[in-house]
Amino acid sequence: MSMGHHHGRETFSSGLAVFFATLGSAVGLGNIWKFPYLTGKFGGGAFLLVYLSCVLLIGLPIMLSEFYIGRRTRRNVVGAFHQLAPGTPWKGIGVMGVSAAYLIMFFYSCVAGWVYYYLFRSLRGDFAAVTPDLLKNEFGAVVTGVWTPVFWQWVVLAVVTAILIMGVKKGIERITKTLMPVLFLLIIACDIRALTLPGAGEGVNFLLHVDFSQLTPAAILTAMGLAFFKLSLGMGTMTTYASYFTPSNNMMATAVKVASADTLVSMLAGLAIFPTVFAFGMEPGAGPGLLFMTIPLVFSQMPFGQQLLIAFFFLTSIAATTAMLSLVEVLIAYFSEEHGVSRQKAAIGNALLIAVVGMLAAWSADPVGPLGQVVFGGRGFFDWFDYLSSNILLPIGGLFIVLFFGYAANQQDIIDQLTNNGTLSLGRSTLPIFFFLARYVTPALLVVIFLNAIGLLKV
Ligand code: PFF
Repeated sequence: MSMGHHHGRETFSSGLAVFFATLGSAVGLGNIWKFPYLTGKFGGGAFLLVYLSCVLLIGLPIMLSEFYIGRRTRRNVVGAFHQLAPGTPWKGIGVMGVSAAYLIMFFYSCVAGWVYYYLFRSLRGDFAAVTPDLLKNEFGAVVTGVWTPVFWQWVVLAVVTAILIMGVKKGIERITKTLMPVLFLLIIACDIRALTLPGAGEGVNFLLHVDFSQLTPAAILTAMGLAFFKLSLGMGTMTTYASYFTPSNNMMATAVKVASADTLVSMLAGLAIFPTVFAFGMEPGAGPGLLFMTIPLVFSQMPFGQQLLIAFFFLTSIAATTAMLSLVEVLIAYFSEEHGVSRQKAAIGNALLIAVVGMLAAWSADPVGPLGQVVFGGRGFFDWFDYLSSNILLPIGGLFIVLFFGYAANQQDIIDQLTNNGTLSLGRSTLPIFFFLARYVTPALLVVIFLNAIGLLKV
């Protein structure tokens, strides 16, 4: 089944397509929802600084490892390890990646459903005159409802499936190339409005002012985990996308560009949210509800607020959708290449499975939801899906991927692959740095995150 090259296996058609597709995977709810809320919670600039270091020291080496593995083999994540290290346990990384893709999709599609629903409501003009209490109740009603969250989760899955069935070029490439620039424009529009508000400076200050007293060990570990989730690393998503990269792509440049652009989008999201939060006297550390409970309020009080609100939820929907394309593509590539299932069947079958199990996430996201009281080991379904994927599977996956790159893979093969057989001169000077990071620095940092995540190291 998994022998030789697959005829008709698609690739992206240009360097630009590679960039936008990969960026589409990285940019998601992580930028617009998680990044601002965590930065708010951990005090702004100092957290940001640690996050940036993590992107450099953990994110880039793992991304490059995944790019190497993916384009070298041009296979799905299980097949890739099977090809590079046949008959060894390294294949387990692929199996873990496939499991992580499911777990993330179960809850991510649920949160994306809320975003779609808020987009729909803002289009309908429902948020024209809202109060803080009203919004809180509204959000509560959504997360504790029975069919509303599930319905919108299914809409999300239907959209993602429809795009994926169209294929790598006609689906993923076309959609990301069209929508990622739109996302940039919309976020800049929101930024301009936010930054021209009276009192916006306080928000900018908050984001950029570095105060090391806030920098607890817990904040450092959170920043590391965020870098992971943000850049879609540790589970073969980037491996899968790299398997569609063009042969001439400069993957070291792509890694640096994607990591920088993703960071820029996070910053732009922060610059849209914090000035508005401060200008209207809200709490920057409001937590996960920040997006749904404050943004509609904030926009409702300003000129062009309703249009900006639509723009805001539209760009968030784009971000969430293009990230999910990459998550489900991991599954489609796996089932079509390892089990001979057609692309269409793999897409529909997985969407159905995610729709069914995803209901558990939708009904347990809130303690007073239908399954809110089903708690085991201190967590409900929603929290387990999030915890197991982000804190367990991604760090372990990332650790083994970078160890594979640093120790197990053939050095010369890596050099050939990352320099496009010696045609890229940049590689000779930068590759030794990546090898050093991949062998020593990244694994050491990851072990610390992981020990903390499973509670062996209490910091
Ligand atoms: N990077 C996405 C975000 O920041 O929202 C989330 C994500 C996508 C994580 C794909 C993992 C993944 F494989």
